[in-house]
Amino acid sequence: MKIIIRPDYESLSRTAADLVQAVVAVNPKATLLLATGNTPVGLYRELAKHHARGEFDASQTTIVQLDAYLELAPDDERSLYGWLDREFLAPQGIPPSNVIRLPGDTADPEDTCREFDRALAQAGGVDLSVLGLGPNGHLGFNEPPCAADAPTRIVALTPESIVSNARYWGRADRVPTRAITAGMSDLLAARATLLLVSGAHKREILSETIHGPITGHVPASYLQNAANVTVLADRDALPSA
Ligand code: GLP
Repeated sequence: MKIIIRPDYESLSRTAADLVQAVVAVNPKATLLLATGNTPVGLYRELAKHHARGEFDASQTTIVQLDAYLELAPDDERSLYGWLDREFLAPQGIPPSNVIRLPGDTADPEDTCREFDRALAQAGGVDLSVLGLGPNGHLGFNEPPCAADAPTRIVALTPESIVSNARYWGRADRVPTRAITAGMSDLLAARATLLLVSGAHKREILSETIHGPITGHVPASYLQNAANVTVLADRDALPSA
């Protein structure tokens, strides 16, 4: 794991944007798996500025959705696809046809999972995965305990994730209790991973992620064994490496 510490969230976001831009400059057709959540929003807003200045063009990339709440209407404000669309796809002018989606309103979630894995395999896997860190060490919604080879699947959110996701929607009872997540196996197979971590509330779980035992009880700890992982954290999350 490579570890980069930045003084604050703003500089973390700028560095993340430079790293993503560098990947797309070398490979304009890169497949990028992108998280939602609060942490990568600064990155997406930086990339929107780069795009406006003509420095970043993601029009040929394939974008992979990381996770989705189940059983939400397509236009529900809590849709994680909607969040990705608002913060990244629309500002970058990326059409839905360039996105490997996890439609949370699917009538057949099992089939949706298999279809997602087929589409991802067909795309040749993920070149760069941009992830946030859950309060319990989850990646996407790969909730603990989680096997390293866990496939794309339907999951029940843990109480920690429901509390944490309540930050987005105001109240815990507005957080759907089930989700589809890209499998841990897909995440660990990415050719590169950028894990973004900000804030003192992530300090303990980040320390377990990078220094603790590799265990399904902290799913992000599997990244210790994955290829080409960069942890980009601010000082509040990682006072020293
Ligand atoms: C959420 C999402 C993850 C996200 C993580 C951290 O539950 N399922 O994809 O990366 O938790 O979120 P945040 O960046 O808002 O702290």
